[in-house]
Amino acid sequence: MDDAPFARPDALDGILADAARAGFAMSCEERTGSLLATLAATKPGGTLVELGTGVGAGAAWLLHGMAPTARLTSVEIDPGTQMVAVRHLGHDRRVRFEALSADRWLRAYRGPAIDLAYVDCRPGKFHLLDRLLSLMAPGGIYVVDDLLPQDTWPDDHQPRVDGFLARLPEQRNLRATPLRWASGLVVGARV
Ligand SMILES: C[S@@+](CC[C@H](N)C(=O)[O-])C[C@H]1O[C@@H](n2cnc3c(N)ncnc32)[C@H](O)[C@@H]1O
Repeated sequence: MDDAPFARPDALDGILADAARAGFAMSCEERTGSLLATLAATKPGGTLVELGTGVGAGAAWLLHGMAPTARLTSVEIDPGTQMVAVRHLGHDRRVRFEALSADRWLRAYRGPAIDLAYVDCRPGKFHLLDRLLSLMAPGGIYVVDDLLPQDTWPDDHQPRVDGFLARLPEQRNLRATPLRWASGLVVGARV
């Protein structure tokens, strides 16, 4: 069995070409992207959030799966990086890009309950997890990637990941499954 994605978003090649030119090497793996598209498709009319836009590869996959009635907010601390995503995906009326720290965004959020959260930066994962879960609808999907060791990690990162994984079973409002697949995922459901 080959686990390569069956289909790819149209915008992805252009995004990845711009990422290569800019030296941005943190876009999600394609297998992860395909899973994101599948999970996004379970939330027609839903409120989806990505923390850490990067150059928009993850957002492209989420949009690939989303129904016309679903909405995505993608949050990124670095406006220059996010501008690549805006260029490639900004025409899609289902997505809104916000350039600010996810810490600030999580603390300030007053919108509808979140139906899917793809967390690709520290807030919402290593800290402010309780805050994010409090903003999510029951049945909401929680996805984290990049949990298997990577060459680019600073020395102090593995203990951070270990602590996150150790704390997850204690999270009473999340049924999570760790997956040694792609870059190392946790997929959970808010209960
Ligand atoms: C792994 S990359 C995101 C990749 C993207 N989600 C994808 O799937 O292609 C992580 C991004 O998070 C951003 N970031 C780091 N800390 C952040 C924070 N506190 N708030 C928002 N974004 C942050 C980084 O600038 C970087 O672009």
